[in-house]
Amino acid sequence: MTIVTRPSRVVSLLGGSITPPVNPCTHGTPRMVNPWTGEPGTAGRAVVVGAGKMGLPLAVQFARHGWTVTAVDVNPNVVASINEGRSHVAEEPGLAEAVAEVHAVGRLSATTDAAAATREADVVVLIVPVMLDDAQQPDYRYMDSAVDSISGGVHSGVTIIFETTLPVGDTRGRFAPRLEAATGLQAETDFFVAFSPERLFSGAVFANLATYPKLVGGIGPESGRRAANFYDSVLDAEIVAMSCSEAAEFSKIADTTYRDVNIALANDFARYADRVGVDIQEVIEGANSQPYSHIHQPGIGVGGHCIPVYPHLLLSRAPDLEVVAVARRTNDAQVGVAIKALEGLLGGLDDVPILVLGLTYRETVKELAYSRALPLIERLSFHGAEVAAYDPLLSIAEIERCCAGPYQWGQPARFRAIVTQTADNLWESIDFSLFPELEVILDGRNSLREIDLPPNVRYMGIGVQAATRRRPDYAPAGK
Ligand SMILES: NC(=O)c1ccc[n+]([C@@H]2O[C@H](COP(=O)([O-])OP(=O)(O)OC[C@H]3O[C@@H](n4cnc5c(N)ncnc54)[C@H](O)[C@@H]3O)[C@@H](O)[C@H]2O)c1
Repeated sequence: MTIVTRPSRVVSLLGGSITPPVNPCTHGTPRMVNPWTGEPGTAGRAVVVGAGKMGLPLAVQFARHGWTVTAVDVNPNVVASINEGRSHVAEEPGLAEAVAEVHAVGRLSATTDAAAATREADVVVLIVPVMLDDAQQPDYRYMDSAVDSISGGVHSGVTIIFETTLPVGDTRGRFAPRLEAATGLQAETDFFVAFSPERLFSGAVFANLATYPKLVGGIGPESGRRAANFYDSVLDAEIVAMSCSEAAEFSKIADTTYRDVNIALANDFARYADRVGVDIQEVIEGANSQPYSHIHQPGIGVGGHCIPVYPHLLLSRAPDLEVVAVARRTNDAQVGVAIKALEGLLGGLDDVPILVLGLTYRETVKELAYSRALPLIERLSFHGAEVAAYDPLLSIAEIERCCAGPYQWGQPARFRAIVTQTADNLWESIDFSLFPELEVILDGRNSLREIDLPPNVRYMGIGVQAATRRRPDYAPAGK
């Protein structure tokens, strides 16, 4: 692939979706060099710090393109499983086979010793989480300690790349100086520092790696060049060499904040759809048939450690961005809106047995970070409800840790309401004969709008009502 200065191969409409092309792998066998200096057609030694849901697939991707890769993690169990050729990330399609494959040919190993791995490396990619603290400010504890842990091995010629989403300016303003102070070396002269956002979607990581343009921005021209050339050697997608690390940092925050704001607007529209008695999904489909409209789906809230977090990384630097702040509050308020509606339908929640289905932030991904199920359970319990829960990805102990009683799928029970928090396909096979006292189903992701319900069970979606959930089939005249 070539390196370009702006994405050239995606068809984009203002506000509309894009379909990135799938790129075949055109890399030949690279020439191993030591040290690696960014020459096309060569490979060296890479380190990935943070071998989690994103870091491990990245390590595999680099190894499959001829790099010798060391995964670094603070968790000794993660390190041990990689060194046995096993993936500890169960849900990512293709990852288990890929880890076994690159481990077997000696191109992937793991260690807890970040400094030793960095000492031998040409490129170090950091992908450990940056979360939020209680005041919604960036919590750097993992990243600061990851940066400190590599600093003993940072040497002349090494390229350090941050893939974790960061507030704009952190690569240049926080982490490059931290490395300079620890090593006595000069960034952009002795060693190189760049930012390249990780934009992958759990469950489709390898497909995304072959399609999504890879944005790269250095703290200076040589940092940018080396980082772009590194990705060009390991990815089949187009590499977009941006003007600076700040542009690359901001692109990731802009993309994800846009989605949060878009969902907040969809949630607002859903409230209005309820008021005027129309189906929000019909409205969105209609609106989005105009190519400049790309309204997302409403729901019971936004979870995961990306979309609810990154707007706060922006607000931590620019608290005056009102639309961003209002959108965040709107999405977080969805749980309260749903509970209020449920309270109205059931005439109060005191002692009402309620089943919550789906605790992870989204179906098929075992991740509870910022899952809206957690405040949902907490607030239902606060209002006096007896909350039980089920999630096919969680054990009984894990469900209990979410402060809900465990429900076993397929068992009869006395629930008066069911609330779905994920759109798992499994919910479509609910056997309602198990729940003779069921009165309400609150469809938090509008995924059950087509199912048959017993006559005594009321349906409520998000901007979709019992009366609107099934549209009449219009047949063209004369048919
Ligand atoms: N998960 C996603 O869907 C996703 C998507 C796009 C981008 N991202 C970005 O990737 C980052 C990481 O996400 P993830 O899902 O891979 O996280 P994860 O929790 O699955 O993995 C993080 C790994 O880092 C390790 N770790 C923590 N501190 C460390 C340290 N100091 N040194 C070495 N290892 C350390 C942990 O043990 C863990 O194995 C996110 O913060 C985000 O910026 C994630």
